[in-house]
Order: sequence, then C-alpha cells, then structure tokens
Amino acid sequence: MSHNTFGHLFRVTTFGESHGPALGCVVDGCPPGLPLVAEDIQAELDRRRPGQSRFTTQRREPDAVRILSGVFEDERTGGQRTTGTPIALVIDNVDQRSKDYSDIRDSFRPGHADYTYDAKYGIRDYRGGGRSSARETAARVAAGAIARKVLPGIAIRGAVVQMGPHRVDRDRWDWDEVGRNPLFCPDPVAAAEWERYLDGIRKEGSSVGAVIEIVAEGAPAGWGAPVYAKLDADIAAAFMSINAVKGVEIGDGFATAALRGEENADEMRPGNGDSPVFLSNRAGGILGGISTGQPIVARFAVKPTSSILQSRRTVTRSGEAADIVTRGRHDPCVGIRAVPVGEAMMACVLADHYLRHRGQVGGGER
Ligand SMILES: Cc1cc2nc3c(=O)[nH]c(=O)nc-3n(C[C@H](O)[C@H](O)[C@H](O)COP(=O)(O)O)c2cc1C
Repeated sequence: MSHNTFGHLFRVTTFGESHGPALGCVVDGCPPGLPLVAEDIQAELDRRRPGQSRFTTQRREPDAVRILSGVFEDERTGGQRTTGTPIALVIDNVDQRSKDYSDIRDSFRPGHADYTYDAKYGIRDYRGGGRSSARETAARVAAGAIARKVLPGIAIRGAVVQMGPHRVDRDRWDWDEVGRNPLFCPDPVAAAEWERYLDGIRKEGSSVGAVIEIVAEGAPAGWGAPVYAKLDADIAAAFMSINAVKGVEIGDGFATAALRGEENADEMRPGNGDSPVFLSNRAGGILGGISTGQPIVARFAVKPTSSILQSRRTVTRSGEAADIVTRGRHDPCVGIRAVPVGEAMMACVLADHYLRHRGQVGGGER
C-alpha cells in the first residue's frame, strides 16, 4: 500500500525526505508538446524557497531543479517540449544539519508527526521530520509549475489573508503587493503590522497560524466530476494534504451557515454570450462540484509551527515523561511559504480536471 501519488490523468508522485540526498516528483500524464524548461519550474520554486527573509526558516536551500526525463529538444520541436512521457524532477538537499535534530530522535514534538510516524511504521527518519517535513512541498510546487503549463489562460494566485488573529482589510487588497512584502500579504498596511507582530512572536521562540486564500481565474464552466470527484472535494483534499493544514473553505465556506437562502445564493442575469452573469460569488465558483466559470476561491487554515523554542511537555519513545525544546531552523509562521504550495495544489487539481473533462465530454481544447 502506498499513497504518495495524487491526480488521475495529471498524476503526481513525490518522493524524498528532509535530510535525504534529494527529493522530487514524477509527473505522469502531462500532454505532449508543451514548452518546458527548468527555469519555468525554478521561478515557482524560488517563491517557496526557505531562507529568503527573517520570517522563514534560515535553512539555505537553493532548491535547484533538474528535469531528468519527459522533455525533448531538437530542430523540429522549436525549443524544449514535453513528450507526453513521465517527467521526473529532482531537487538536491544541500543544507541539512542533522545534528540539530538529535533531541527529537527519542522524544516526540507535540503537534508534529513524530509520534504518529513512530506508531505507524515503527521506524522514523527523525532528521528534520523525514518524510513528514514540508521539504516535500517543494516537489508539489515543481509539479504545479508544470500544471500551470497545462492551463494557459488560467491565473492562479494566492495570498495570506490572516496571520494569527490579524486579518487583511479587503478594501486595501492589491495583488501586486503580494510580491512586494515577505509575507505574501495583499494589504500593505497589514503587511507592515504583521512584520512587527511576527518579529515579536519569533523573538519569544513561539509561532502563529495563518489563513491562505487561493484564487483561480479563467477556468470555464464545466470542470469537476460529480459525484465522487467534485471539484470542491478534490481541492479540499489537495489542500488538506498540505502539511499543517487544519481547515479548508470553498467560497464563503463556514460563513454561509449564518446566512439566509436569499443572501447566500449567487443570483444570475443573462450575459452577452452563452454564459450567465453571476451577481456575487459566495459559492467560490463551484456548484454541484462543477465550476461555474467564476473565479474559484478557496481558503485553508494553517496551524502554528509545532517546533518551537518554548519548552513543552511530551513523552519519549519508551514512554517516559520529558520536556522538549525544538532547536533547529523553523518557520515562525509556516503559512507564509504555504502560499506557493496552495497555488501549486490548485494548479495540479485544475490540470487534472481539465484533462478529465476533456476525456469525458470532449471539447475544451486549449
Ligand atoms: C511551508 C511549510 C513549512 C513548514 N515548516 C515547518 C517547520 O519549520 N517546523 C515545523 O515544526 N513544522 C513545519 N511545517 C509543518 C509540519 O510539516 C507539519 O505540522 C507536520 O508535518 C505534521 O503534520 P500536520 O500538521 O499536517 O498534522 C511546515 C509546513 C509548511 C506548509
């Protein structure tokens, strides 16, 4: 039994551990003929890369990606293109400091996966959290860069909309601002406040959670496969599979429970062509598990980093009571670097559903 693969027609398998020699993925099912060079993937990886600000782990990983297979260039292809065969990507780990993790060899970090990996497998690569480390998400981001190639004309963007208890002011939302501050925050005022707030959290040896919003614009109506591969169900599963994610919302999500029917339903008017115009988008662009053609909007909540410098009570592998302080290099808010990961998962789900839709009902050639 193994579960390191997701997707059906656009199928991603990731491999690797935090302190192993390398990690990577195999993307199977990518259509042939798409222009693809390592730089396309690197640009996305650079947005997730650690050590870029004082608000993320200081582990120095260049995350340089190599494409091992699935692409070809000769005089007829006009640049390097996908061949339709499996695309293998590899990213070397170069800045492991395994001695930082000797404390967690025999004790379990509360809130991390140390106990459950031990309970399940009986053997655990404790260095940097092994396979449970979010180093694995680099491979997802790499796969997501390929998924974006399958989805031309679809813009997938993400932002941190809440850090700890502090939310953005949506009236100040500016997508360009997301790339200007180190917190992926779309609100310049909130970004400045959050920097001060997070500095304090970091200096206290603590951590905070965050909410990330991912928006995909340009997907047509019709993607999603009721009833067991509804688009919202697959997005939720993809987001929940990201490390530290504890909740997912589609559209207005949990807030819709407090609304009345006439407030919640997105009213419709005739549009110019075949498509109607929706007067709101509380549904997050999905009805009945099928995209409406509106922006697809989804959020996920990320818990506070569990590896913190503050002492916590725990147990050892042999069941004795112990206290643990987690040294090593950790993000004070893992939600920040989760933004490109969320975008990548959305891209992979949409690429898969685009291909599945084309397979079942045809059309939709891009
Ligand atoms: C981008 C990213 C970076 C992360 N970095 C850390 C980290 O430095 N330290 C840590 O304890 N957890 C980190 N995590 C979270 C853990 O990987 C996660 O909590 C752990 O695997 C247990 O899984 P669960 O929280 O999903 O139950 C990170 C998560 C993400 C998304």
